[in-house]
Amino acid sequence: MVFRLDRYLNECDSTLTRKSAKALLHGGCVAVNGKVCKDAAHKVDTECDTVTVNGKMLSYVRFRYFVLNKPAGVLSASRDKKTKTVVDLIDGIGDICFPVGRLDKDTDGLLLITNDGALAHELLSPKKHVDKTYIVTCASRISEEDCVRLQNGIDLGDFTSAPARVRILDNENNILAMTITEGKFHQVKRMIAAVGSEVTHLTRVRIGGLWLPKDLKQGEYKETDGGSLRAVLYPEAPDGEDDEERFLRSYL
Ligand code: URA
Repeated sequence: MVFRLDRYLNECDSTLTRKSAKALLHGGCVAVNGKVCKDAAHKVDTECDTVTVNGKMLSYVRFRYFVLNKPAGVLSASRDKKTKTVVDLIDGIGDICFPVGRLDKDTDGLLLITNDGALAHELLSPKKHVDKTYIVTCASRISEEDCVRLQNGIDLGDFTSAPARVRILDNENNILAMTITEGKFHQVKRMIAAVGSEVTHLTRVRIGGLWLPKDLKQGEYKETDGGSLRAVLYPEAPDGEDDEERFLRSYL
C-alpha cells in the first residue's frame, strides 16, 4: 500500500496524531530509506520503503477498527472454537482482532473491535478515565438517594466504585443512564444491586466521545480508520449537558 508519510506514521503508531507526526517531520526526526524527509505528503510504499523515527525503524501493520452494535447472546471475546463471539460477527478479519473490553453476554450496544493494542490499552486503563455510558433498565425504582449513592461511589465489597454520573431518564419504567470510568466485571449490575435493585436490560451507548450510531442495528458494524475514531473518541470539547440528555433519550 502507498500512503502519505504523515498518514504512514499514524498507521504504524496510532499514538502519533497528525499534529505530532508533523512536529517529528519538521524536527528532522523522520528518514525515508536513510534520508531525512520533512515532506508530510511524500509517498511511502509499505512494500519497499523503510521509515525510521529518531533512528528507530517503524513496521507497518494494518490496524483495523470496527464499531459494532453487539447483540445480546454473543460473547465479548476473541474467536472461540465452541462459542459464537463478537469477532465472528465481522466478515473476513481472521484471528487478529479482539474486542476492546468486555460486555456481558446479555448486554447489548457499543463495542469496538480492533487489532490496535495501544488504543485498546488507552481506552481500558482506569488511569485514563474514559467515560462509558449505559442505559440501565432496573427491576424496581431507583430513588434520588440511590442516585446520590451511585454518584458518590459505592462500596462493592472488593472495591469502591469511582464516582459515577447518574441521570434518571424514565421514572415510570425505572430507566436511567449511568456513566462510569472503570470497567470492572459486572460493574453496573453490581452497583445497581448495591442499592437494592437488579438490572433487567443493559445497553452501552457511549465510549468517550463516540456514541452508538443510530443507524447500526444489533449485529451490524461499521469499519472506520484510526484517525477518525480517535477524533470522535477524544473530542476537543465535551458535549454540553443538553446535548447529552437529548442523545440519551434518543436511545429509549
Ligand atoms: N457493567 C455490567 O454489569 N455489565 C456490562 O456488560 C458492562 C458493564
